[in-house]
Amino acid sequence: MKILPRLVIGRVKPRYPIIQGGMAIRVSTGRLAGAVAREGGIGLIAGSGMEADELRQEIRLARSIANGGFVGVNTLVAASQFMRVMETAVDEGIDLLVAGAGFSRDLLTLGQRNGVPVVPIVSTARLAVLAEQLGASAVVVEGKEAGGHLGTTKSSRVLYPLVKAAVKIPVLIAGGITDREDLLEVLGMNVDGVQVGTRFAASFESNAADSFKQRYLQAREGDVIKIHSPVGLPGNALSTAFLDRIAQGPMPLENCDGCLKRCSRIFCIVRALIQAKDGNLDKGLVFAGEHVYKIKEILSVADIFKSFFTGLEPKDG
Ligand SMILES: Cc1cc2nc3c(=O)[nH]c(=O)nc-3n(C[C@H](O)[C@H](O)[C@H](O)COP(=O)(O)O)c2cc1C
Repeated sequence: MKILPRLVIGRVKPRYPIIQGGMAIRVSTGRLAGAVAREGGIGLIAGSGMEADELRQEIRLARSIANGGFVGVNTLVAASQFMRVMETAVDEGIDLLVAGAGFSRDLLTLGQRNGVPVVPIVSTARLAVLAEQLGASAVVVEGKEAGGHLGTTKSSRVLYPLVKAAVKIPVLIAGGITDREDLLEVLGMNVDGVQVGTRFAASFESNAADSFKQRYLQAREGDVIKIHSPVGLPGNALSTAFLDRIAQGPMPLENCDGCLKRCSRIFCIVRALIQAKDGNLDKGLVFAGEHVYKIKEILSVADIFKSFFTGLEPKDG
């Protein structure tokens, strides 16, 4: 029987070496994060776009489900409220902080002051080294296969060994781990752990509308396309009428509330993500990873864990 790697991120020691990636806006809320934590992974609430009260409620909900498992918060560095969201999470006694779509020294300082492990998402060895020097407890290397915003055009399988060789902290791989075949492939690369998004977005506990999840099930290989996000990064998404519309030209905003530190204003990404999450796919942006076509059914988080880990033994200690 194959023994799984033991993932240790500071005081966070999950039974299985897996983080459920944060998925905004409100796709990964307390229900999903709590279920993943209960099964023995690390569950992440996507804090981007949440007010403090909402985030506190979601953290408490996740904890009530988690049965003592580990719950973290992920926020996009690009969000104007980034530090405020993370400070709220720390105030709620969160186990772990993960930063996506950018790099933040302030977050690493916040984590160190409060003894909370911080895990930046990186796409280069250079940034991983900087993160380690500034006190990161682990890094996630995300490749071009991942759902959501992307910091690279390179495969996670190519980037991983470069980052792993450059740092001593644990390195998790993200992008294109959607089923057991993918998991076994990256375990063969001796990864310290995996971060998985798309597979969990198509779970019963995911907060996305059923039509969002059905769009995942309809996806065929090669259906995921690269979009230009107003954040200034590319992103992986499934085609919708909305994507056809933005391909024709900008959709200027009437009531912009300045939710991003920098925004090209070609369209409102927050509203587009909320529309998709609510099931209005014609007006929405459906983020999805390149391996979404491998998902054949919506499963419970418990069944996703079984599909990944049956026959693989967690390492004790
Ligand atoms: C619907 C969706 C929303 C996402 N939103 C975020 C986010 O808010 N912050 C973030 O750091 N990453 C986000 N991601 C990326 C995931 O956290 C994760 O790293 C990625 O999905 C891993 O690749 P996979 O989709 O191939 O499993 C999102 C991914 C998806 C599919």
